[in-house]
Amino acid sequence: MTDINFNDDNAKSFVSDQEIDSLQADIDRLHIDLESGTGQGSDYLGWLHLPSRTSTTLLDSIVSTQMEIKEQCDAFVCIGIGGSYLGARAAISFLNPAFGNQDGPEIYFAGQNISSDYHADLLNRLADREICINVISKSGTTTEPAIAFRLLRNFMDKKYGREESRKRIVVTTDSQKGALKSLADEEGYKSFVIPDDVGGRFSVLTPVGLLPLAMAGIDVRALIEGALQAENELTETSDLSKNIAYRYAANRHLLYQKGKVIELMATFHPSFEYILEWWKQLAGESEGKNGRGIFPASAQYTTDLHSLGQWVQDGNRNLFETFLLMGKSIHSVEIPSVTDDKDGLGYLEGKSLDFVNEKAYKGSAAAHLEGGVPSLVLTLKERSAHNLGQLIYFFERAVAMTGYLSGVNPFDQPGVEFYKKNMFTLLNKPGYEKGK
Ligand code: PA5
Repeated sequence: MTDINFNDDNAKSFVSDQEIDSLQADIDRLHIDLESGTGQGSDYLGWLHLPSRTSTTLLDSIVSTQMEIKEQCDAFVCIGIGGSYLGARAAISFLNPAFGNQDGPEIYFAGQNISSDYHADLLNRLADREICINVISKSGTTTEPAIAFRLLRNFMDKKYGREESRKRIVVTTDSQKGALKSLADEEGYKSFVIPDDVGGRFSVLTPVGLLPLAMAGIDVRALIEGALQAENELTETSDLSKNIAYRYAANRHLLYQKGKVIELMATFHPSFEYILEWWKQLAGESEGKNGRGIFPASAQYTTDLHSLGQWVQDGNRNLFETFLLMGKSIHSVEIPSVTDDKDGLGYLEGKSLDFVNEKAYKGSAAAHLEGGVPSLVLTLKERSAHNLGQLIYFFERAVAMTGYLSGVNPFDQPGVEFYKKNMFTLLNKPGYEKGK
């Protein structure tokens, strides 16, 4: 693919080319199932051609909303959880500078936990700031964001009065149903719609992700263009020598069948940190069902080479690694020359941190392979919105295909309801009393 490179050389001693090729017929059939909507979960295939379906009108409306809100606030709070949170957080932390964007409003997140301290600290932080909020929930009934929204609304009503606070709230939810939709209609909040056929974890390229990203100063048009390029390339053929999302899926499937039940996605670039969190939800919620599924885990190297590294090198041999690498950093930082060499780093003088980082990757990949851990490698050309759009779409295709290969419906999440039922019973929510 144009801006993503996939390499499976370090998995070949575990998964042969013949084994990969033997999956071609299944993959051809499952590709047709995806494209024709004849596979499992076909009501939720809206993500498949979302980039090409995204209208200029929608993008213009996102950008004009961002321009209006920007005038009103210096802090923008995104309220949501799971698929209504992770994509925006991932894209913003991937594309913006590590310590926040200087140009746009500060971006905060709420409703992704139920911690008193977190929300109290957030309200304290917001006390002297001009705030706007975007509450995001497809179902419009999820408890965590509903609690955060009530807290924030109450806070804003006191700060601005009801009339003014209404103008500072944007809702992203279903077109018809849910408590949030009714509330938005009653209060006249500005609203964006999450398409019916796009599930939460596949929704980052809808207004769920687009508005927060635009608020963070990210070029959402470039993001969608990148995703569209990936959509075109990955739709065109299911040939495993050309479609790298399916080749990645085939490797994952075969490694899992050989007992490599954990995929540790490791990066050497902190900007990928939340991309890995987003991917864990995408893969875990899509594939982990019916007693099956790769357990998606993540590691930040070199940080975690000093904590998980021992386990990866020498612990239970039930994992494979996927390295998510960056082709090119935005900045180049060199190790400076100094008058003495008391720290013993003279041999690295003039070398860039990227040079050292690359050797750390090569050294650990070789060591882990020798220790019995195969690895797959994904390299993104650069840290840009266009490339990120490609990466998002690539992972969505790959996860959908892995789910289909293992015979599960990748687009539902029945397991998530179990904790909710227990929690509601414990909270005495009407309708969930013990025994009901
Ligand atoms: O992927 C999913 O469907 C879930 O993770 C949801 O995104 C999450 O539970 C939040 O749901 P909602 O957007 O309905 O509040």
